[in-house]
Amino acid sequence: MKCAEAGNMSSGPLSHLLRGVWLLWFWQAVFAAGTGSKLWEVPTGPFTSSSNLSESLQWEPHCQYSHLQDRARITADLPPTLDGTWVSTRCEVRPGPEFLTRSYTFHPTRHFQALQHYYTDSGCEDPAYSLMTRGKLRLRQASWITRGGTEAEHHISKVGIVVHSLAAKQRLVSRLPPSCVGLTLGRMVPGKLYELYNTRAGRGCLAALGFSMMEMGLIRVETQHRGHEGKVQELFLGDIHTEWTQRTHHRPTGYQQPLQNAMHHIHPCPVCALVYRSSEQRPPVLPRGPVPSLALAGRWVSQRCETRPTILFLTRDFTFDPDQHSWEGVYHHYLDAACSQPTFTLRASGHYAQGNPSAKVSGATEFVFKVTQVGVTALDQPTVKLLNGTRPGKCGRAGGWEVGVEQDLTPTDGCTVLGIKLPHKEYELFKTELNHRKHPLLLIGERPTDGSSPDRPQRRPTSFQAPLVLCSGGESQPSHRYRSGFNSKQVQLAVSGTEQLVQLVLLVLGSALYSCFCVY
Ligand SMILES: *[C@@H]1O[C@H](CO)[C@@H](O)[C@H](O)[C@H]1NC(C)=O
Ligand SMILES: *[C@@H]1O[C@H](CO)[C@@H](O)[C@H](O)[C@H]1NC(C)=O
Repeated sequence: MKCAEAGNMSSGPLSHLLRGVWLLWFWQAVFAAGTGSKLWEVPTGPFTSSSNLSESLQWEPHCQYSHLQDRARITADLPPTLDGTWVSTRCEVRPGPEFLTRSYTFHPTRHFQALQHYYTDSGCEDPAYSLMTRGKLRLRQASWITRGGTEAEHHISKVGIVVHSLAAKQRLVSRLPPSCVGLTLGRMVPGKLYELYNTRAGRGCLAALGFSMMEMGLIRVETQHRGHEGKVQELFLGDIHTEWTQRTHHRPTGYQQPLQNAMHHIHPCPVCALVYRSSEQRPPVLPRGPVPSLALAGRWVSQRCETRPTILFLTRDFTFDPDQHSWEGVYHHYLDAACSQPTFTLRASGHYAQGNPSAKVSGATEFVFKVTQVGVTALDQPTVKLLNGTRPGKCGRAGGWEVGVEQDLTPTDGCTVLGIKLPHKEYELFKTELNHRKHPLLLIGERPTDGSSPDRPQRRPTSFQAPLVLCSGGESQPSHRYRSGFNSKQVQLAVSGTEQLVQLVLLVLGSALYSCFCVY
């Protein structure tokens, strides 16, 4: 079944490679189980209560100018402990866009209550309706696909809805079938709880609402140990598919932005308190925060090791120079969820143009990005082996690949084996915010879940990736290896969507890496 799913995720020439990966993984898992290996990333069957596999994550952002004090020892237990209430730390944006806050409570009996509040605006100031979902969750096994994650199964017993205004009711009436379970939408009264779904009813109304709890399919809990500040716990649940039609049956392989434990969160967090105290009848109304003007200048880095759908662990490091309209993005790729085993680094650079304020996500701004140069540095032998074996003219200097030495892919117009083809352009959505320390954060558009590229205006993202943090206002010089020599007028705009190629790179490299492991 896993093999079949993997095959569907890809297309064309990569499918057979993927199938190979899954078979090898399967073999690896069987082998590990048979020998009692303690490889935490390899599932060894359902959990037993005695499992205590804890990974120690020591990752720190590679940002030498960083003012981050968020350096902490991070652990992630397998299986995760979910008991307690977990809340949004900000107004969340889902593809669509949808704006919401969440408060999820898990009980030791495996029952959960998931309270979601939906809003009409990107600041979560105008509540439209709230959904209260009750159900049961069963943790199954460590994920085969997303290392460090745990697969779970859920069962929904009830979904209730409360609308918060007549306008919100009108919008729902236009989207939903005229009656849902016992509820005739036209007669719905704001502020009153109605049943939208129970185990005896079909899912028609939930589907029309785009509702699903598929996010419960992939779970990870991280604990940050912050010395005398105490600990902070974060709950990562599965990603929401960027395509509306896919979201109700999408099996997540990446995560949404985490919820924080109501008892162990980063202080101060005014939003956490509001969300924690909310109920389906009393949705939290978030205060209007200061909206910083969009100033891209400087260097922005990931705050943590990020997990992307389809086996991608990476950190990002961007530098923008608004005077030159130029940018550079460095994507550090890893084999593991702690970002401790580097595989390769991809450096892309080019130019950008700032567009209009977004009509869909207020406070966000549209951009067009052009990539004019891509360099790849292989950081382990399997990657070198794969790239070194490509035919001349297809992927950098054939036979010239070495560990730790960057190859420029521009002369070969990309890299066929990696699916990098030049030229290319991407339509983006950016937003800046301030974090709890009033430090600027940059949100860059979410990548399409299917691995494609937002290469047309209508594919422009409507939600965001994990925020990047500004290294320092004062030291915003372009970073190391930043090439300022090119002139936007001369360069024929080129290269592929960096993220898509990254995704393809990993699918291909992934197969090489794992086949290599199997040999040992
Ligand atoms: C798990 O193991 C760690 C270190 O090996 C230990 O400190 C901790 O108490 C254990 N936790 C449980 C629940 O057994
Ligand atoms: C890369 O290929 C060249 C030419 O085939 C070979 O001489 C070299 O040893 C290879 N390098 C690595 C690291 O495999």
